[in-house]
Amino acid sequence: MKTAAAGLALGLAGCAAWAQGQPSQATASAERGRALLLQRQDTGCVLCHQIPGLPAGGALGPSLQGLAQRSTPAQARERIADARRFNPQTIMPAYLSTEGLHNVAAPYRGQTVLTPQALDDIVSYLFQPHTP
Ligand code: HEC
Repeated sequence: MKTAAAGLALGLAGCAAWAQGQPSQATASAERGRALLLQRQDTGCVLCHQIPGLPAGGALGPSLQGLAQRSTPAQARERIADARRFNPQTIMPAYLSTEGLHNVAAPYRGQTVLTPQALDDIVSYLFQPHTP
């Protein structure tokens, strides 16, 4: 419960940050998701994944081409939130969890990498139809 409350607070803070210059927060935005996926420092997704519609990505993780054929948006969201639930040995960072993380720099302790809104935006991009 404590964690959920913290997540909610962070989510709201994230929305407030996004709200500056952003007209609507109500729905997930594939456009914002695309920008998040491309952030090498903050998310690093493209360091490990080839992602349709984005410049060449890394190969440490599987290509996300065809993701919609093998996963539902909810399943992908779960995995991005905390891939350790599916593979305890995974090298993929847990983006919406603060549990069991080590070597976290002081300013980031107790914070998730992504807000729930940002995660929704990313899933929205990954599941929108792409031209190859
Ligand atoms: C350090 C490398 C790394 C980073 C960074 C990373 N991933 Fe992953 N990802 C993996 C690996 C490896 C897998 C394969 C499953 C596993 O080992 O957990 C995976 C699996 C996935 C899957 C499931 C793929 C499938 O075929 O079903 C999705 C979706 C995904 N990652 C999305 C993301 C997103 C979105 C980000 C950024 C927010 C991200 N990943 C960042 C390494 C990474």
